[in-house]
Amino acid sequence: MKRIFSGIQPSGNLQLGNYLGAIRNWAQMQNDYECIFCVVDLHAITLPQDPLEMRDATREAAAGVIAGGVNPETCIIFNQSQVPEHAELAWLFNCVARLGWLNRMTQFKEKAGKDRDGAFVGLYTYPVLQAADILAYKATDVPVGEDQKQHIELCRDIAQAFNSMYGKDFFPLPEARIQKAAARIMSLRDGTKKMSKSDPSDYSRINMTDGPDAIAQKIRKAKTDPYPLPDSLRELDERPEALNLITIFAALSNKDEQSVISEFAGRGFGEFKKCLADLAVETMGPIGEEMQRLMACPEEVDTLLNVGAIKAREIAEPIVKEAKEIVGFLGPRI
Ligand code: TYM
Repeated sequence: MKRIFSGIQPSGNLQLGNYLGAIRNWAQMQNDYECIFCVVDLHAITLPQDPLEMRDATREAAAGVIAGGVNPETCIIFNQSQVPEHAELAWLFNCVARLGWLNRMTQFKEKAGKDRDGAFVGLYTYPVLQAADILAYKATDVPVGEDQKQHIELCRDIAQAFNSMYGKDFFPLPEARIQKAAARIMSLRDGTKKMSKSDPSDYSRINMTDGPDAIAQKIRKAKTDPYPLPDSLRELDERPEALNLITIFAALSNKDEQSVISEFAGRGFGEFKKCLADLAVETMGPIGEEMQRLMACPEEVDTLLNVGAIKAREIAEPIVKEAKEIVGFLGPRI
């Protein structure tokens, strides 16, 4: 059976993009693959974090994955720092990946901003750790949103370079599995920017924990334009906010964008937003409630992550041990 690995950062405010771009696909693929889903706390500290908030955010991310439909009985769900093989393999890959490859990573440029010299070294080598996450399990498929595509390509480059440096076909070249329907959900305030948990405006996103009133209000206030909905997708090329709301409607209702446009052609955004709000409350409401329930039981979530980490380690440990042997490290004799 093919093996999936994917990850999500515990940086608080899980949002609709995380759900539609990632978690929902994880849930849909879980019966056809062996699945490993990771709350990537090692990645989170590449930007400054408050230790107390990190713990809650880690539980929130795990709760989001489970409430979003991933079954913790059949899938492995854990937090990254409980499995030391991730960091260990990342070091081996730091000595395979080239500076030039990392210099091309657009997320580093975005996240480091203007003060590059002030950024943590970890932020720069972040994609190397991401490659280690995936390859510590020899995962073959990585379901992610569009923004992660470049990192998965780098992971393939690292796998290939390791195999050729050491003359052994050891690591697979994993495929990014990006669902077209919701590959990139955009901000509700600016249709050219990705919806993100780090956007300072809460009105830019629908949080997975938002209740019905907040969801409806955010959709009502979402930026649009004064024109009615057109009857073809092409006419939305210059209307990113309008296109984003159509994309969200289509993704939430499992329809394609063109059929949503055809349904609402000629109608104003007031009416469309009302239907979208009803749909979003209906689909996201129960998920948010289940998340809140899980977050109110931290011991339950912590135990689940502990159990997941033990299972994850059973897979990663022998793979990383073999990688170390391939590199030429002496291991214990006894
Ligand atoms: P993160 O935590 O930013 O996001 C988790 C997942 O949600 C997707 N996503 C979106 N999809 C569509 N529209 C959006 N607006 C949107 N926002 C987020 C992301 O594409 C991602 O799939 N580096 C990763 C975490 C990671 C990882 C890994 C992923 C670490 N190691 C190994 C896969 C495999 C990240 O920061 O995701």
